[in-house]
Amino acid sequence: MSRLIIVSNRVAPISEGGPAAGGLAVGVYDALKETGGMWFGWSGEVVSSGQPQLQLVEQGPVTFATIGLARRDYDQYYRGFSNATLWPAFHYRADMIQYDGHDFEGYWRVNTWLAQQLVPLLRADDVIWVHDYHLIPFAQALRAAGVKNRIGFFLHIPFPAAQVLLAVPPHRALVEALCSFDLLGFQTQADVRAFCDYVVHEAAGEIEGAEPFVAGAPVLVRAFGRSLRAAAYPIGVYPDEIAQLAKAGARGKSVRTMRQTLHDRKLIMSVDRLDYSKGLVERFRAFERLLDQVPACRNNVSFVQIAPPTRSDMHAYQDIRLRLESELGRINGRFAELDWTPIRYIHRQYERSVLAALFRQSHVGYVTPLRDGMNLVAKEYVSAQDPDDPGVLVLSRFAGAADELTGALIVNPIDIDGMAQALAQALSMPLAERRARYRDMIAQLRSNNVSVWRDTFLRDLAQGNGQRPAAN
Ligand code: G6P
Repeated sequence: MSRLIIVSNRVAPISEGGPAAGGLAVGVYDALKETGGMWFGWSGEVVSSGQPQLQLVEQGPVTFATIGLARRDYDQYYRGFSNATLWPAFHYRADMIQYDGHDFEGYWRVNTWLAQQLVPLLRADDVIWVHDYHLIPFAQALRAAGVKNRIGFFLHIPFPAAQVLLAVPPHRALVEALCSFDLLGFQTQADVRAFCDYVVHEAAGEIEGAEPFVAGAPVLVRAFGRSLRAAAYPIGVYPDEIAQLAKAGARGKSVRTMRQTLHDRKLIMSVDRLDYSKGLVERFRAFERLLDQVPACRNNVSFVQIAPPTRSDMHAYQDIRLRLESELGRINGRFAELDWTPIRYIHRQYERSVLAALFRQSHVGYVTPLRDGMNLVAKEYVSAQDPDDPGVLVLSRFAGAADELTGALIVNPIDIDGMAQALAQALSMPLAERRARYRDMIAQLRSNNVSVWRDTFLRDLAQGNGQRPAAN
C-alpha cells in the first residue's frame, strides 16, 4: 500500500494528544492517525540564527517531519502573503487585502525550499496530499524537482469569487500553480464553482462534467496546458469520538465549576480563534439585542465566548481584539448584575475534551462566521450533544457547514436582528423539535465523517488527473 504524505503549514502539536477544537490540524490529525504515514510542515518555530534543520519524530503510525522558518521567511511567507493577502482575499474581505511583491516572492521561495526539503524523504509510490492556502505553489515546485507522484490539494478555506480573487495581483500565477496538482478538493460546491468560473472566464480553460456539481464527483479541468480534476469534499469529524469525549469531560473540574457558577441559567457557547472572519463583534451585538428585546433573558442566560489568540503579531488581529474587547466591556457594563456577567469572554485555548463537555452542557451553539471554509466547531458542537436533550445550533449561512447542517437555525451573520431572533427561538425550542433537528444533523455527520472525507479524496486522487496514466 502507498504511504500517505500529508503536507501542511501547521503540523499538529506532537506531544499534546492532538490539537484543540476546529480547523485544519484537527481534521488532518484525525485522518492521518488512522492510516499512518508522514506529516511534513513547519515546526511552528522561528529560527533566529543558522539554517533551520529538518526534524523527524516517530509517534505510533505517524512520522512528523518538521522544520523551522527563518525570520524573513516567516514574515514574508506566513504573516505576509499567506495571512495579509490570501487570507482576507479568500474570506471575501477585499477591503483588507494587503499586497507586497517581496512577500509574494518570499511565499514562492519558501514553497520551493520546503518542497526541496521533502524530496529526499519521498518514495516512488507515495501519495502526496497538500493542504491549504500557504502551499498553493507546492506541486509546481515538486514537479520542477522531478517528482512524478500523485499530488492532491485540499483547500480548507473558501475559494473566492473571481471578482475578489482578481484583486490579488498575482492571481493568475496562483491559479496556474493550482493546476499543477492532479486533484483539487474544496469544501463546498460553491468553491468548486468559483474556481471553475475563474478557469473559464479568466484563464480560457475548459471544464468537463460541470453543473450540477456533485460532491465527490470531480469535474475535469483543462487549463495552462494541464489537465486535472476538481470536486467538493466537505471535511467531517468523528462524531462518536467527540460524544465520548464530551461525556467523559463533563466529570472534569472545569466543567463542574462552570456549572456551579451558572446556577440554572441557560448557556450559549461559542469557540473561535480570534479572527476577523469569525463575525465576533456582530455576534456580541446580536446577543445584546436579545437582552434588549427579551428582558426575560437578562440574568437568565449566559453567553460564553472562548476565543483563543491567533496571529496576534499582525495588526488586523490586534485591531479586531481591541474592537471586540471594547464591545464586550460596553455590553457587560450595560447589563451585568452583581451576580451575573452576560458575556464571559476567555482569550485562551482549552483542551478538546473540555470544549466538547462545555458544548454538551450548553443550550445553544452560536457559530456565526462572516465566511468560513467549513467550520468544524459547528460539527463538533452537534456531535457533543446529549441525544435525549440536545442543544440547538445557530449557524451562519456563510460557513461551509451550513450546506450539510440543515437542521441548524441558519442565520445571516451581519443581520443583528435576525441573529437575536434565532437565539430567542433556540432558547425556547421545544424538546421534540430539538431532537428532530439533532437526529437529522448527527445522521449527516456520521455518514460523512472524517474517514469518508479522506477516503473519498484519496480514492479520486488514485484515479489520477483524468489524463495521464497512473504515475509509477
Ligand atoms: C485555519 C486555516 C489553517 C490554520 C488555522 C490556524 O483553520 O485553514 O490552515 O492552520 O486556521 O491558523 P494559524 O495561522 O495559527 O495556522
